[in-house]
Amino acid sequence: MTPTSIALEVNGERVEAQVLPRLNLADFLREHLQLTGTHVGCEHGVCGACTVRVDGEIVRACLMLAMQADGGTIETIEGLSDSGEVADLQDAFRNRNALQCGYCTPGMLIAAQDLLKQNADPSREQIREHLSGNYCRCTGYQAIIDAVESTARSRRGRA
Ligand code: FES
Ligand code: FES
Repeated sequence: MTPTSIALEVNGERVEAQVLPRLNLADFLREHLQLTGTHVGCEHGVCGACTVRVDGEIVRACLMLAMQADGGTIETIEGLSDSGEVADLQDAFRNRNALQCGYCTPGMLIAAQDLLKQNADPSREQIREHLSGNYCRCTGYQAIIDAVESTARSRRGRA
């Protein structure tokens, strides 16, 4: 197969690369750009470990080809973390023991931030629903819901 040229923005930086047509976005981010915070679990679009933002929307990077991201704007957990956008969520996850092995955490944080951008005062049910596509094998989810709920509360307090 012949490699194709792509150009995109990743975490605010322009990236140009040659990719094989079958390469998915998750593998591109991890292997070509060493952005290993994007985790790969199921590779079938089920677990949410590979969640990233593409043009402002959350997507499963294992279900998207790198070629399809050509011309797009990608944000990974490294970008959201470096900019401080999810610093309070990360603190809440830490304080509430909402992570153990941490495998699901980058995807959880990106999905939770997506919810909090849309809804500043989500119910526990809405948090559960929004994160229902992100699997966690360790925590039993309650601590994650607590962390997102407390972040929403403190953001409202600051607003
Ligand atoms: S690795 Fe992409 S959804 Fe599981
Ligand atoms: S903390 Fe281990 S999978 Fe969620």
